[in-house]
Amino acid sequence: MEPLALLVRNTSEVLTLEGTHREPAEQALTARPRACVGVRGGRVAWVGREEELPPGAVDSGTEVLDAQGCMVGPGFVDPHTHLVFAGERSTEFDLRCQGATYLEIAQAGGGILSTVRATRAASQEELVRLALPRLQRLLEYGVTTAEVKSGYGLDVENELKMLRAVRQLSTLSPVELVPTLLCAHAVPEEYKGRREEYVELCVREILPAVAKEGLARFCDIFVEQSAFTPDEARRLLIAAKALGLRPRLHGDQLTSGGGAELAAELGAATVDHLEQVSEAGIRALATADVTAVLVPTSTLFLRMRPYAPGRKLREAGVNVALGTNVNPGSAMTENLPLALGLACLENGLTAAEAYWAATRGAALALGLASHGRLAVGDIADLVVFSCSNYRHLPYHLGVNHARTVLKAGRVV
Ligand code: NIG
Repeated sequence: MEPLALLVRNTSEVLTLEGTHREPAEQALTARPRACVGVRGGRVAWVGREEELPPGAVDSGTEVLDAQGCMVGPGFVDPHTHLVFAGERSTEFDLRCQGATYLEIAQAGGGILSTVRATRAASQEELVRLALPRLQRLLEYGVTTAEVKSGYGLDVENELKMLRAVRQLSTLSPVELVPTLLCAHAVPEEYKGRREEYVELCVREILPAVAKEGLARFCDIFVEQSAFTPDEARRLLIAAKALGLRPRLHGDQLTSGGGAELAAELGAATVDHLEQVSEAGIRALATADVTAVLVPTSTLFLRMRPYAPGRKLREAGVNVALGTNVNPGSAMTENLPLALGLACLENGLTAAEAYWAATRGAALALGLASHGRLAVGDIADLVVFSCSNYRHLPYHLGVNHARTVLKAGRVV
Protein backbone atom coordinates (compact mmCIF):
# COMPACT_ATOMS: atom_id res chain seq x y z
CA MET A 1 0.00 0.00 0.00
CA GLU A 2 1.16 3.53 -0.77
CA PRO A 3 2.22 5.20 2.51
CA LEU A 4 -0.44 7.18 4.35
CA ALA A 5 0.07 10.89 4.98
CA LEU A 6 -1.59 10.59 8.39
CA LEU A 7 -2.67 7.81 10.71
CA VAL A 8 -5.13 8.53 13.54
CA ARG A 9 -4.62 5.72 16.05
CA ASN A 10 -5.43 4.62 19.59
CA THR A 11 -9.14 5.47 19.44
CA SER A 12 -11.94 4.06 21.60
CA GLU A 13 -14.03 3.85 18.43
CA VAL A 14 -14.29 5.41 15.00
CA LEU A 15 -17.79 6.24 13.76
CA THR A 16 -17.79 6.00 9.98
CA LEU A 17 -21.53 6.67 9.43
CA GLU A 18 -21.80 4.23 6.56
CA GLY A 19 -25.49 3.45 7.04
CA THR A 20 -28.64 5.26 5.95
CA HIS A 21 -31.39 7.10 7.81
CA ARG A 22 -33.74 4.24 7.01
CA GLU A 23 -31.99 1.89 9.41
CA PRO A 24 -31.70 2.23 13.19
CA ALA A 25 -29.29 5.10 13.84
CA GLU A 26 -27.12 3.08 16.21
CA GLN A 27 -26.41 0.73 13.33
CA ALA A 28 -26.06 3.54 10.78
CA LEU A 29 -23.29 5.19 12.81
CA THR A 30 -21.13 2.13 12.06
CA ALA A 31 -18.98 2.12 15.18
CA ARG A 32 -15.57 0.51 14.65
CA PRO A 33 -14.10 -0.26 18.08
CA ARG A 34 -10.42 0.70 18.47
CA ALA A 35 -10.09 1.43 14.74
CA CYS A 36 -7.52 3.70 13.06
CA VAL A 37 -8.14 6.13 10.21
CA GLY A 38 -5.55 6.51 7.46
CA VAL A 39 -5.54 9.66 5.33
CA ARG A 40 -3.92 10.37 1.98
CA GLY A 41 -4.50 13.33 -0.36
CA GLY A 42 -7.01 14.85 2.08
CA ARG A 43 -9.26 11.80 1.83
CA VAL A 44 -9.90 8.76 3.97
CA ALA A 45 -7.64 6.08 2.53
CA TRP A 46 -8.01 3.28 5.05
CA VAL A 47 -10.04 2.39 8.17
CA GLY A 48 -9.28 -0.66 10.28
CA ARG A 49 -7.54 -2.13 13.30
CA GLU A 50 -3.89 -1.21 13.72
CA GLU A 51 -2.83 -4.86 13.56
CA GLU A 52 -4.49 -5.08 10.13
CA LEU A 53 -2.52 -2.18 8.58
CA PRO A 54 -1.34 -3.26 5.13
CA PRO A 55 2.43 -3.49 4.59
CA GLY A 56 3.97 -0.16 3.61
CA ALA A 57 0.98 1.86 4.90
CA VAL A 58 3.09 3.65 7.49
CA ASP A 59 6.57 4.94 6.76
CA SER A 60 8.81 7.69 8.10
CA GLY A 61 6.74 10.31 6.29
CA THR A 62 3.46 9.27 7.91
CA GLU A 63 2.28 11.68 10.59
CA VAL A 64 0.72 9.89 13.56
CA LEU A 65 -2.06 11.39 15.65
CA ASP A 66 -2.69 9.64 18.97
CA ALA A 67 -6.38 9.85 19.92
CA GLN A 68 -5.48 8.78 23.48
CA GLY A 69 -8.33 6.32 23.77
CA CYS A 70 -10.99 8.78 22.61
CA MET A 71 -13.72 8.66 20.03
CA VAL A 72 -13.24 9.85 16.45
CA GLY A 73 -16.01 10.82 14.04
CA PRO A 74 -16.58 12.93 10.95
CA GLY A 75 -16.55 16.72 11.27
CA PHE A 76 -19.95 18.15 12.10
CA VAL A 77 -21.94 19.65 9.24
CA ASP A 78 -24.12 22.60 10.25
CA PRO A 79 -26.90 22.75 7.64
CA HIS A 80 -28.59 25.97 8.82
CA THR A 81 -26.80 29.18 9.77
CA HIS A 82 -27.29 32.92 9.34
CA LEU A 83 -23.67 33.58 10.22
CA VAL A 84 -23.22 36.81 8.28
CA PHE A 85 -24.86 39.85 9.84
CA ALA A 86 -24.11 43.16 11.53
CA GLY A 87 -25.54 44.50 14.78
CA GLU A 88 -27.00 42.53 17.66
CA ARG A 89 -30.39 42.09 19.35
CA SER A 90 -29.71 41.51 23.02
CA THR A 91 -32.50 43.95 23.96
CA GLU A 92 -34.99 41.71 22.13
CA PHE A 93 -33.67 38.73 24.06
CA ASP A 94 -34.25 40.61 27.30
CA LEU A 95 -37.76 41.65 26.18
CA ARG A 96 -38.62 38.03 25.40
CA CYS A 97 -37.41 37.01 28.83
CA GLN A 98 -39.91 39.53 30.17
CA GLY A 99 -42.74 38.02 28.14
CA ALA A 100 -42.69 39.65 24.69
CA THR A 101 -42.93 37.30 21.71
CA TYR A 102 -40.76 37.11 18.58
CA LEU A 103 -43.72 38.27 16.46
CA GLU A 104 -44.61 41.19 18.73
CA ILE A 105 -41.02 42.39 18.58
CA ALA A 106 -40.98 42.07 14.78
CA GLN A 107 -44.27 43.95 14.49
CA ALA A 108 -42.82 46.77 16.58
CA GLY A 109 -40.04 47.27 14.01
CA GLY A 110 -37.42 44.97 15.57
CA GLY A 111 -36.68 41.41 14.51
CA ILE A 112 -35.19 40.56 11.13
CA LEU A 113 -35.68 44.12 9.81
CA SER A 114 -33.49 45.57 12.54
CA THR A 115 -30.64 43.28 11.45
CA VAL A 116 -31.36 44.29 7.84
CA ARG A 117 -30.77 47.93 8.73
CA ALA A 118 -27.44 47.14 10.41
CA THR A 119 -26.32 44.76 7.66
CA ARG A 120 -27.13 47.20 4.88
CA ALA A 121 -25.01 49.82 6.66
CA ALA A 122 -21.98 47.52 6.87
CA SER A 123 -19.42 46.96 4.12
CA GLN A 124 -18.58 43.48 2.80
CA GLU A 125 -15.26 43.64 4.67
CA GLU A 126 -17.03 44.59 7.89
CA LEU A 127 -19.43 41.65 7.50
CA VAL A 128 -16.50 39.30 6.97
CA ARG A 129 -14.68 40.70 10.01
CA LEU A 130 -17.78 40.20 12.17
CA ALA A 131 -18.50 36.69 10.89
CA LEU A 132 -14.99 35.30 11.25
CA PRO A 133 -15.05 34.81 15.04
CA ARG A 134 -18.47 33.14 14.77
CA LEU A 135 -17.08 30.78 12.17
CA GLN A 136 -14.06 30.13 14.36
CA ARG A 137 -16.37 29.20 17.24
CA LEU A 138 -18.24 26.74 15.00
CA LEU A 139 -14.91 25.19 14.05
CA GLU A 140 -13.91 24.89 17.69
CA TYR A 141 -17.08 22.87 18.29
CA GLY A 142 -16.01 20.51 15.51
CA VAL A 143 -17.97 21.95 12.59
CA THR A 144 -15.98 21.50 9.38
CA THR A 145 -18.75 22.37 6.91
CA ALA A 146 -21.48 24.97 7.34
CA GLU A 147 -24.29 26.33 5.25
CA VAL A 148 -24.59 30.14 5.38
CA LYS A 149 -27.63 32.13 4.29
CA SER A 150 -28.05 35.68 3.05
CA GLY A 151 -31.35 37.30 4.02
CA TYR A 152 -30.38 40.49 5.82
CA GLY A 153 -29.80 42.47 2.62
CA LEU A 154 -33.22 42.19 0.94
CA ASP A 155 -32.24 44.10 -2.19
CA VAL A 156 -29.96 43.29 -5.11
CA GLU A 157 -26.91 45.14 -3.85
CA ASN A 158 -27.04 43.93 -0.27
CA GLU A 159 -27.97 40.30 -0.97
CA LEU A 160 -25.00 40.17 -3.36
CA LYS A 161 -22.81 41.83 -0.72
CA MET A 162 -23.78 39.19 1.85
CA LEU A 163 -23.12 36.28 -0.49
CA ARG A 164 -19.82 37.78 -1.62
CA ALA A 165 -18.94 38.03 2.06
CA VAL A 166 -19.66 34.30 2.39
CA ARG A 167 -17.38 33.61 -0.58
CA GLN A 168 -14.63 35.76 0.95
CA LEU A 169 -15.07 34.06 4.34
CA SER A 170 -14.52 30.68 2.77
CA THR A 171 -11.06 31.79 1.64
CA LEU A 172 -10.19 32.85 5.20
CA SER A 173 -11.33 29.84 7.20
CA PRO A 174 -10.82 26.08 6.89
CA VAL A 175 -14.58 25.59 7.37
CA GLU A 176 -16.17 24.71 4.04
CA LEU A 177 -19.15 26.97 3.37
CA VAL A 178 -22.29 26.23 1.40
CA PRO A 179 -24.05 29.48 0.42
CA THR A 180 -27.82 29.90 0.31
CA LEU A 181 -29.81 32.81 -1.10
CA LEU A 182 -32.54 33.86 1.34
CA CYS A 183 -33.75 37.08 -0.26
CA ALA A 184 -37.30 36.12 0.78
CA HIS A 185 -36.57 36.26 4.51
CA ALA A 186 -38.83 39.24 5.19
CA VAL A 187 -40.55 41.97 3.21
CA PRO A 188 -38.17 44.95 3.41
CA GLU A 189 -39.40 48.24 4.89
CA GLU A 190 -39.41 50.07 1.55
CA TYR A 191 -41.81 47.43 0.14
CA LYS A 192 -44.25 47.58 3.06
CA GLY A 193 -47.73 47.03 1.63
CA ARG A 194 -46.22 46.03 -1.76
CA ARG A 195 -45.15 42.46 -1.02
CA GLU A 196 -45.98 41.15 -4.54
CA GLU A 197 -43.57 43.73 -5.95
CA TYR A 198 -40.84 42.51 -3.62
CA VAL A 199 -41.39 38.90 -4.72
CA GLU A 200 -41.13 40.18 -8.31
CA LEU A 201 -37.79 41.81 -7.44
CA CYS A 202 -36.55 38.53 -5.97
CA VAL A 203 -37.59 36.54 -9.03
CA ARG A 204 -36.61 39.01 -11.72
CA GLU A 205 -33.49 40.63 -10.30
CA ILE A 206 -31.98 39.20 -7.14
CA LEU A 207 -32.15 35.53 -8.11
CA PRO A 208 -30.72 35.99 -11.65
CA ALA A 209 -27.92 38.25 -10.35
CA VAL A 210 -26.95 35.65 -7.73
CA ALA A 211 -27.14 32.79 -10.23
CA LYS A 212 -25.06 34.71 -12.76
CA GLU A 213 -22.23 35.15 -10.24
CA GLY A 214 -22.58 31.55 -9.00
CA LEU A 215 -22.96 32.85 -5.45
CA ALA A 216 -25.45 30.32 -4.04
CA ARG A 217 -26.18 26.62 -4.19
CA PHE A 218 -29.63 26.81 -2.58
CA CYS A 219 -32.54 29.23 -2.54
CA ASP A 220 -34.51 29.46 0.69
CA ILE A 221 -37.69 31.30 1.73
CA PHE A 222 -39.41 31.97 5.06
CA VAL A 223 -42.95 30.64 4.68
CA GLU A 224 -44.96 32.06 7.55
CA GLN A 225 -48.02 34.25 8.15
CA SER A 226 -45.68 37.12 9.00
CA ALA A 227 -43.37 36.50 6.02
CA PHE A 228 -44.24 34.83 2.67
CA THR A 229 -47.19 32.73 1.47
CA PRO A 230 -46.98 29.24 -0.05
CA ASP A 231 -47.90 30.73 -3.46
CA GLU A 232 -45.06 33.23 -3.24
CA ALA A 233 -42.72 30.41 -2.25
CA ARG A 234 -43.85 28.35 -5.25
CA ARG A 235 -43.14 31.24 -7.57
CA LEU A 236 -39.67 31.93 -6.19
CA LEU A 237 -38.52 28.35 -5.75
CA ILE A 238 -39.66 27.20 -9.20
CA ALA A 239 -37.70 30.13 -10.67
CA ALA A 240 -34.71 29.20 -8.50
CA LYS A 241 -34.79 25.58 -9.70
CA ALA A 242 -34.79 26.77 -13.31
CA LEU A 243 -31.56 28.66 -12.57
CA GLY A 244 -29.93 25.64 -10.90
CA LEU A 245 -30.48 26.58 -7.24
CA ARG A 246 -32.05 23.84 -5.12
CA PRO A 247 -35.07 24.89 -3.07
CA ARG A 248 -35.20 24.93 0.70
CA LEU A 249 -37.65 26.53 3.04
CA HIS A 250 -38.17 27.73 6.58
CA GLY A 251 -41.55 26.20 7.34
CA ASP A 252 -44.06 25.46 10.09
CA GLN A 253 -42.01 27.39 12.64
CA LEU A 254 -44.32 29.87 14.37
CA THR A 255 -47.58 28.61 12.90
CA SER A 256 -48.63 25.50 11.00
CA GLY A 257 -48.70 26.70 7.41
CA GLY A 258 -48.30 23.64 5.21
CA GLY A 259 -44.53 24.24 4.90
CA ALA A 260 -43.66 20.56 4.91
CA GLU A 261 -46.32 19.70 2.32
CA LEU A 262 -45.03 22.51 0.12
CA ALA A 263 -41.43 21.35 0.47
CA ALA A 264 -42.51 17.88 -0.64
CA GLU A 265 -44.50 19.25 -3.58
CA LEU A 266 -41.53 21.30 -4.79
CA GLY A 267 -38.94 18.55 -4.28
CA ALA A 268 -37.05 20.82 -1.86
CA ALA A 269 -33.79 19.62 -0.38
CA THR A 270 -34.92 20.56 3.12
CA VAL A 271 -37.60 22.15 5.20
CA ASP A 272 -36.27 23.72 8.37
CA HIS A 273 -37.77 24.36 11.84
CA LEU A 274 -41.02 22.29 11.75
CA GLU A 275 -42.13 22.98 15.30
CA GLN A 276 -45.75 23.12 14.04
CA VAL A 277 -45.57 20.47 11.29
CA SER A 278 -48.78 18.49 10.66
CA GLU A 279 -49.10 14.70 10.51
CA ALA A 280 -49.78 14.98 6.78
CA GLY A 281 -46.67 17.12 6.43
CA ILE A 282 -44.53 14.46 8.10
CA ARG A 283 -45.87 11.80 5.75
CA ALA A 284 -45.27 14.04 2.73
CA LEU A 285 -41.63 14.60 3.71
CA ALA A 286 -41.03 10.87 4.00
CA THR A 287 -42.59 10.15 0.63
CA ALA A 288 -40.74 12.95 -1.18
CA ASP A 289 -37.43 12.29 0.62
CA VAL A 290 -37.08 15.84 1.90
CA THR A 291 -34.71 16.31 4.85
CA ALA A 292 -36.18 17.81 8.01
CA VAL A 293 -33.68 20.24 9.54
CA LEU A 294 -34.27 20.70 13.26
CA VAL A 295 -32.95 23.78 15.03
CA PRO A 296 -33.94 23.30 18.68
CA THR A 297 -31.60 26.04 19.92
CA SER A 298 -34.04 28.54 18.37
CA THR A 299 -37.11 26.86 19.90
CA LEU A 300 -35.33 27.28 23.24
CA PHE A 301 -34.12 30.80 22.53
CA LEU A 302 -37.59 31.99 21.50
CA ARG A 303 -39.12 30.27 24.56
CA MET A 304 -41.55 28.47 22.27
CA ARG A 305 -43.39 25.20 22.63
CA PRO A 306 -43.66 22.62 21.19
CA TYR A 307 -40.27 21.51 19.91
CA ALA A 308 -40.30 19.92 16.45
CA PRO A 309 -41.44 16.27 16.59
CA GLY A 310 -38.08 14.66 15.83
CA ARG A 311 -39.21 11.26 17.09
CA LYS A 312 -42.22 11.17 14.76
CA LEU A 313 -40.12 12.39 11.82
CA ARG A 314 -37.55 9.63 12.35
CA GLU A 315 -40.25 7.00 12.80
CA ALA A 316 -41.91 8.10 9.57
CA GLY A 317 -38.60 7.47 7.75
CA VAL A 318 -37.59 11.11 7.22
CA ASN A 319 -33.90 12.00 7.11
CA VAL A 320 -33.43 14.34 10.07
CA ALA A 321 -30.60 16.90 10.21
CA LEU A 322 -29.64 19.20 13.04
CA GLY A 323 -28.23 22.73 12.92
CA THR A 324 -27.36 25.63 15.19
CA ASN A 325 -29.37 28.24 13.24
CA VAL A 326 -26.84 30.73 14.58
CA ASN A 327 -28.35 34.19 14.00
CA PRO A 328 -28.80 37.40 16.01
CA GLY A 329 -32.55 37.02 16.57
CA SER A 330 -33.68 33.49 17.23
CA ALA A 331 -30.51 31.57 18.14
CA MET A 332 -27.43 33.56 19.11
CA THR A 333 -25.24 30.50 19.62
CA GLU A 334 -22.68 28.47 17.71
CA ASN A 335 -23.05 25.64 20.21
CA LEU A 336 -23.82 22.56 18.13
CA PRO A 337 -23.33 20.19 21.10
CA LEU A 338 -26.14 22.08 22.84
CA ALA A 339 -28.32 21.40 19.80
CA LEU A 340 -27.45 17.70 20.16
CA GLY A 341 -28.52 17.77 23.81
CA LEU A 342 -31.79 19.55 23.01
CA ALA A 343 -32.49 17.18 20.12
CA CYS A 344 -32.45 14.34 22.66
CA LEU A 345 -34.18 16.13 25.53
CA GLU A 346 -36.83 18.00 23.56
CA ASN A 347 -37.12 16.66 19.99
CA GLY A 348 -37.20 13.08 21.19
CA LEU A 349 -34.19 11.79 19.26
CA THR A 350 -31.85 9.15 20.61
CA ALA A 351 -28.20 10.08 21.03
CA ALA A 352 -27.37 8.10 17.89
CA GLU A 353 -30.09 9.86 15.89
CA ALA A 354 -28.90 13.26 17.08
CA TYR A 355 -25.32 12.42 16.14
CA TRP A 356 -26.45 11.20 12.70
CA ALA A 357 -28.45 14.41 12.26
CA ALA A 358 -25.41 16.63 12.90
CA THR A 359 -23.10 14.66 10.60
CA ARG A 360 -24.29 12.42 7.77
CA GLY A 361 -27.93 13.55 7.93
CA ALA A 362 -26.83 17.16 7.53
CA ALA A 363 -24.35 16.36 4.74
CA LEU A 364 -27.09 14.61 2.77
CA ALA A 365 -29.34 17.63 3.31
CA LEU A 366 -26.70 19.78 1.62
CA GLY A 367 -26.13 17.27 -1.17
CA LEU A 368 -22.58 16.55 0.00
CA ALA A 369 -22.06 12.88 -0.78
CA SER A 370 -18.60 12.50 0.72
CA HIS A 371 -19.07 14.59 3.88
CA GLY A 372 -20.36 13.62 7.31
CA ARG A 373 -19.00 10.10 6.80
CA LEU A 374 -15.59 8.43 7.01
CA ALA A 375 -15.79 5.75 4.34
CA VAL A 376 -12.73 5.19 2.15
CA GLY A 377 -12.66 7.98 -0.45
CA ASP A 378 -14.58 10.48 1.70
CA ILE A 379 -13.14 13.86 2.60
CA ALA A 380 -10.96 13.47 5.70
CA ASP A 381 -12.86 15.93 7.88
CA LEU A 382 -12.67 14.44 11.32
CA VAL A 383 -12.86 15.24 14.97
CA VAL A 384 -11.11 13.62 17.92
CA PHE A 385 -13.43 14.13 20.89
CA SER A 386 -12.33 14.13 24.52
CA CYS A 387 -14.76 11.34 25.41
CA SER A 388 -14.98 7.67 24.61
CA ASN A 389 -18.42 7.47 23.00
CA TYR A 390 -20.96 9.62 21.16
CA ARG A 391 -23.60 9.43 23.91
CA HIS A 392 -21.39 11.70 25.96
CA LEU A 393 -21.90 14.58 23.53
CA PRO A 394 -25.62 15.29 24.19
CA TYR A 395 -25.31 14.08 27.78
CA HIS A 396 -22.60 16.55 28.84
CA LEU A 397 -25.00 19.31 27.92
CA GLY A 398 -23.62 22.14 25.85
CA VAL A 399 -20.00 21.30 26.64
CA ASN A 400 -17.43 21.26 23.89
CA HIS A 401 -15.63 17.93 23.55
CA ALA A 402 -13.98 18.56 20.18
CA ARG A 403 -10.28 18.22 21.01
CA THR A 404 -8.61 18.04 17.62
CA VAL A 405 -10.34 19.01 14.37
CA LEU A 406 -9.06 18.06 10.92
CA LYS A 407 -10.25 19.52 7.64
CA ALA A 408 -9.27 17.51 4.56
CA GLY A 409 -6.67 15.67 6.60
CA ARG A 410 -5.01 18.71 8.19
CA VAL A 411 -5.26 19.75 11.82
CA VAL A 412 -7.00 23.15 11.90
O1 NIG B 1 -34.22 30.69 11.05
N1 NIG B 1 -37.19 32.21 10.95
C1 NIG B 1 -36.58 32.99 10.28
N2 NIG B 1 -35.28 33.23 10.25
C2 NIG B 1 -34.36 33.00 11.31
C3 NIG B 1 -34.40 34.08 12.32
C4 NIG B 1 -33.72 35.29 11.84
C5 NIG B 1 -33.74 36.48 12.75
O2 NIG B 1 -34.57 36.60 13.66
O3 NIG B 1 -32.88 37.33 12.52
C6 NIG B 1 -34.52 31.59 11.85
O4 NIG B 1 -34.90 31.39 12.99
